[in-house]
Amino acid sequence: MSTMQTQPVDTDRLNAFLGKFVNDLGASVHAGMVVIGEKLGLYKALAGDPMTSKELARKTGMDERYLREWLASQAAGGYITYDDSTHRFSLTPEQAFTLADGESPAYLPGAFELALGALAAVPRIADSFRTGAGMGWHEHADGVFHGCEKFFRPGYAANLVTSWIPALDHVQAKLERGGRVADVGCGTGASTLLMAKAFPKSRFFGFDYHDKSVEAANEKARQEGLSDRVTFEVAKAKEFPGNDYDFVAVFDCLHDMGDPIGAATHVRKSLAPGGTWMIVEPYAGDELKDNLNPVGRVYYSFSTLLCTPCSRSQEVGLCLGAQAGEAAIRGVALEAGFSHFRRAAETPFNIVYEARA
Ligand SMILES: C[S@@+](CC[C@H](N)C(=O)[O-])C[C@H]1O[C@@H](n2cnc3c(N)ncnc32)[C@H](O)[C@@H]1O
Repeated sequence: MSTMQTQPVDTDRLNAFLGKFVNDLGASVHAGMVVIGEKLGLYKALAGDPMTSKELARKTGMDERYLREWLASQAAGGYITYDDSTHRFSLTPEQAFTLADGESPAYLPGAFELALGALAAVPRIADSFRTGAGMGWHEHADGVFHGCEKFFRPGYAANLVTSWIPALDHVQAKLERGGRVADVGCGTGASTLLMAKAFPKSRFFGFDYHDKSVEAANEKARQEGLSDRVTFEVAKAKEFPGNDYDFVAVFDCLHDMGDPIGAATHVRKSLAPGGTWMIVEPYAGDELKDNLNPVGRVYYSFSTLLCTPCSRSQEVGLCLGAQAGEAAIRGVALEAGFSHFRRAAETPFNIVYEARA
């Protein structure tokens, strides 16, 4: 007889667990609601005066019946506010800050777009549990690339130029004077363009193996008038060109690589004397027990769907995972021949490491 059958079920603990389940199920379908709200500009439309569903329909040109159902789902989840006395819906300043302002450092909808895009891979990833096969970043739905940028960019905009780069030894001064910078695994280039705007005398090179992301990044550089000193090129982290960079950065991608030690070795060789490598990784402790919390849950889930399969799809297939922790990242840097390694900064979502040869 199994242990499961011999131990009595505690009703209070069961009810508490069911309460958690209802929250989680609501959150799962809610992801689709937020993506709809952002895509159709509904949060932005609600950011002004309170509105009934009919008024919102008039303002947006959308179908009132769909809007009414969506508004109810949002009010039930606390993402918008409902006034029963007027039957009007509105956003509090905090809701508007996180849902209606794309430039806000706490803009949230991108995270849900990323989640929906990643969840589209569930059938294939479930199969990979049986076969051990990988799935490259480039094989995912477009929502993964766009959602990733929208999710990460606000954090970079809030921290990269104002605290992460200043936390590194000598880097800010070099970039202010004019240096050569490589952003490796740059995706659609959000981090590269933020740095380029802040340091107009420096020259920036973004590299990523994913051609569609590189194309989108070059297009953004053109739109922002930065193409004269920011270029994006398709290249793998172990093969990108150049050997005189003052600063090489990797944002949230070292753990996605199949051979992070090979990539780190190539980064070391690409640096000019005295050059710095900045490694931005998801926040994580070294031990599993340190990461059993809501942020760890987010990262382990994305890691199962995106990061681990991506690493598995490449040569070596080390599969560090998105919760690798400082000891593992330090191990990669030291193994690749870096002699200096330290944690330079952190936020609730990221840890920033500095490495020098
Ligand atoms: C989670 S995304 C991060 C993108 C970007 N750095 C950011 O922070 O928005 C991971 C990126 O790593 C890239 N990548 C994965 N393996 C790579 C490799 N071996 N060489 C170059 N890029 C790689 C993917 O194409 C993807 O753009």
